[in-house]
Amino acid sequence: MCSVVGYVGTHFSRDYILEGLSRLEYRGYDSAGFACLHPENNRLLYCKAKGRLSNLIEKCKQSPIDGYVAIGHTRWSTHGTSTEINAHPHFDCNKTLSIVHNGIIENHHDLKQQLIKTGHTFHSDTDTEIIAHLFESLILTHNTFKGAVVDLVNQLRGAYAFISISQDLPDQMLLVRKRSPLCIGVGDGQMFIASDVLAFADKTKKVLFIPDEHFAIVKHDMIELYDFKGNSKPLIMQDITSDWQAHQKNGHEHYMLKEIYEQKRAIHATVDFLSTLSPDLWNHIDISAEQIRNLKTISLVGCGTSWHAARIAQFFFETICKLPTKVQLASEMRYMHFFKEPANMHIAISQSGETADTLEALRMVNDFDIPTLAITNVASSTMVREADGFILTQAGHEVAVASTKAFSTQLTALYWLAHRIALERGLIEQHDLKNAEQDLFIIAEVLENGIENYKRTIQKVLAPKYAQFNKSIFLGRHISYPFAMEAALKLKEISYIFAQCYPAGELKHGPLALIDEQMPVYIFSVQDPIIYQKLVANTQEAKARGGHIVVFAFEGQDELCSLAETSFVLPRVKTLLEPLAMSGLMQYLAYEIANVLGCEIDKPRNLAKSVTVE
Ligand code: M6R
Repeated sequence: MCSVVGYVGTHFSRDYILEGLSRLEYRGYDSAGFACLHPENNRLLYCKAKGRLSNLIEKCKQSPIDGYVAIGHTRWSTHGTSTEINAHPHFDCNKTLSIVHNGIIENHHDLKQQLIKTGHTFHSDTDTEIIAHLFESLILTHNTFKGAVVDLVNQLRGAYAFISISQDLPDQMLLVRKRSPLCIGVGDGQMFIASDVLAFADKTKKVLFIPDEHFAIVKHDMIELYDFKGNSKPLIMQDITSDWQAHQKNGHEHYMLKEIYEQKRAIHATVDFLSTLSPDLWNHIDISAEQIRNLKTISLVGCGTSWHAARIAQFFFETICKLPTKVQLASEMRYMHFFKEPANMHIAISQSGETADTLEALRMVNDFDIPTLAITNVASSTMVREADGFILTQAGHEVAVASTKAFSTQLTALYWLAHRIALERGLIEQHDLKNAEQDLFIIAEVLENGIENYKRTIQKVLAPKYAQFNKSIFLGRHISYPFAMEAALKLKEISYIFAQCYPAGELKHGPLALIDEQMPVYIFSVQDPIIYQKLVANTQEAKARGGHIVVFAFEGQDELCSLAETSFVLPRVKTLLEPLAMSGLMQYLAYEIANVLGCEIDKPRNLAKSVTVE
């Protein structure tokens, strides 16, 4: 998704801006741009390029513009295709004011028509350009800069974080935040601005997260913070905890591979963290032990991989806590009827803690005064700030767009939490919680060994073989169905192989028509004997139609394996942890298939790491 970076200080800043943008590259984008004020005459200078950031870097070398006040942007197209004209920054009519923006201005069409009528000329198809022109006209009609900003934010609808610089006020920068994140790294006589703290994590130790619906006027040695009514607000600084050094590939060809291999450590770290938190957990997440004991239902919400983790966790909460659990896709939930249930707790699951739909679903639930908990991997995220409580997975920074270690640590945290709730409700004893922690340590081992045992065969035989099929079907039943959805997502997003997932029992209700010799059918087994037998029957149905069967099975499941062209066999594990046990191997197979196909694995086309627009 789009990223913004800015600098106000006493040093030339182009290198910082470009490096900051490159650190946020993993989030996904399709064009990039840079603007600064000339250090002597304050003239607005800019450079934009379509495609990769390297194109912008090359272009900037040819026109070596630089300044002490500068902004940069990587754009993920929403309004208008990926062209140089649509790339940010955007300008007012006189090109004296420049804007970079994350988010969407929902009422851009109406505003544009009004502005055209009053003589403004637009050059791009973007919603962002509206901000520049509207601001230009408001500055003319207001006595104060602050008054113009208050009027501006009152007219803009949608979610946005933008930065503006202007020739007329050359020593300052305007930062505005509604829904999308924006923060300021406070240095010694210089300010580093970005949509993600990672951009400047090694430059300073102090950060100010602009609160939602606030704006800031920033100079090299001063910040003024205001709410959207123009009331002055105090500055609450926080320490920067992110470590940029931990974000390197460490010798791996791709971040995704590195992150697949970090899962064992990440699961351990998550269990250790939660175990330490355990005695004080309810205080930490701002819910009373009594509320936990009285809970009647649990609701889970997320998008993409996090939604799959939620679907799997439904089995945890229903089996371990005996609590009816509802799982919703955030993008759907927001527009459905919402019925407040008594004694309910809402858990939002999100690696980034910034996904627009999940965040809005969380906000919607917050309005109903229901306890909310965010399970996220990013301590500085908006969900951490806006949920009543939060639990941080200890995956470490996940760079690859395809989620791997975030998924496995979400499952770890949710499995642990289900046990902790069950303990509070008197359903299990303290030693059961300890055993659950041990089971998670065992699974971390199984996950990693699964990769190691099949690594050579996958590299040499299986990945080249399965890379030749351009479509596939994924099947699971019971707890392996949401896992099969996650597996299908992993394969399609990084290899672009079409992968459709069904609950295996649905095969004969339609999808069976798709099966022939050219269709690999990936089947994810379970150990429950009854469901296993049903899955064997479904596999036979697919096999009988010529389907090319690939199974992920557990030791002793010879009948299932005998139907398969390829089988991966894992040791028997706790039934609720089957998805976690299979995840490393599944991710690794998808990774190697994409690698054979020469795909851009860490940054798949059209995708963004953090989906901060709806
Ligand atoms: O940051 P989030 O977990 O909220 O992101 C939600 C999805 O965009 C994300 O899980 C996506 O599906 C994965 N990156 C796919 O691997």
